[in-house]
Amino acid sequence: MKILVTGGLGFIGSHTVVELVNAGYDPVIIDDLSNSNIKILDQLAKIIGFKPAFHQLNLCDDKAVSEFAEANQDISGLIHFAAFKAVGESVKHPLKYYHNNFYSLINLLNAYNGKALNFVFSSSCTVYGQPDKLPVTEDAPVKQAQSPYGNTKQIAEEILKDVVAAGSAYKIVSLRYFNPVGAHSTALIGELPIGIPQNLVPFITQTAIGKREKLTVFGDKYNTPDGSCIRDYIHVVDLAKAHVAAIKLMQEEGFNGYDVFNIGTGNGSSVLEVIKAFEQTTGVKLNYEIGPQREGDVEQVWGDVTKSAEKLNWKAELDLSTMMSSAWAWEQYIAENPL
Ligand code: WQD
Repeated sequence: MKILVTGGLGFIGSHTVVELVNAGYDPVIIDDLSNSNIKILDQLAKIIGFKPAFHQLNLCDDKAVSEFAEANQDISGLIHFAAFKAVGESVKHPLKYYHNNFYSLINLLNAYNGKALNFVFSSSCTVYGQPDKLPVTEDAPVKQAQSPYGNTKQIAEEILKDVVAAGSAYKIVSLRYFNPVGAHSTALIGELPIGIPQNLVPFITQTAIGKREKLTVFGDKYNTPDGSCIRDYIHVVDLAKAHVAAIKLMQEEGFNGYDVFNIGTGNGSSVLEVIKAFEQTTGVKLNYEIGPQREGDVEQVWGDVTKSAEKLNWKAELDLSTMMSSAWAWEQYIAENPL
């Protein structure tokens, strides 16, 4: 069964390609290589034993997308990762984010309109902003987005709901990721930030390997037990498996329309706890200092994952220590084997 994976050479996309193959699906990758590396295709081949089908395609080019769909009608599912996702950059370049994230989504939906496609959308806990109640459930109010990036996720979910409400043949699931971290157990694929990492864990591993001089903890005066921000970190392999579970759910009788799930562990970890877990797991002392708070950060958020366990039949299995050890193994691999 062919599953189209847009952004399939990216961090979460590549791990999802592996889990799709493990579950007996046949992934077809689309990627425009604007934020990924073609060499990940060879890395995937080392893990799954063959090079998955790959098409370099800019999803904002509606003609190219409809030509692709014409030539690839035998797709039964679609997992849509391809989007710009840097919170800070989206504040500086909102139009770039609205153009890319909406044109790509709408072109895909138009190209396969009318086909009973199982469509998985990569959403984010960013839609919750700072929840009033923790852990946050899927029916918590979606708050005013803190960034154009977060806004594109909120509006995209509304677009998908409207498409289903209009009676389209699509079945759609939005997965609201919490914080994806870690790497595949083979250390052959992982997070490949371009330039200075925006996110915590790649900054930790690049500091540990000496690529960065020190980590700055963005604030320790929050209203949390140790003063640093709390997030729900989830291993990228657990996250990848949630996409397979979503495809399976939509293949079942009785699934109709649209649903949304929190994809996290249900546990919150502070920045200082993540640093401690990294040091204890790897034995590497991390050079860090406390700095000013970062604009737009929410203080604390972690997910209620009851609905995912009960309805998506999925739950995270890997712990924070495994997240740290796998992220570190990948950083060491990439230092020895630059792509
Ligand atoms: C985590 C915590 C920082 C870097 C964003 C998006 C989310 C998803 C993941 C795409 C925060 C602190 C960070 C550093 C630090 N994106 N931090 N020093 O902002 O929770 O989520 O990325 O899928 O949608 O919103 O992740 O890793 O940037 O930050 O202290 O050098 O680490 O302040 O508290 P975030 P993050």
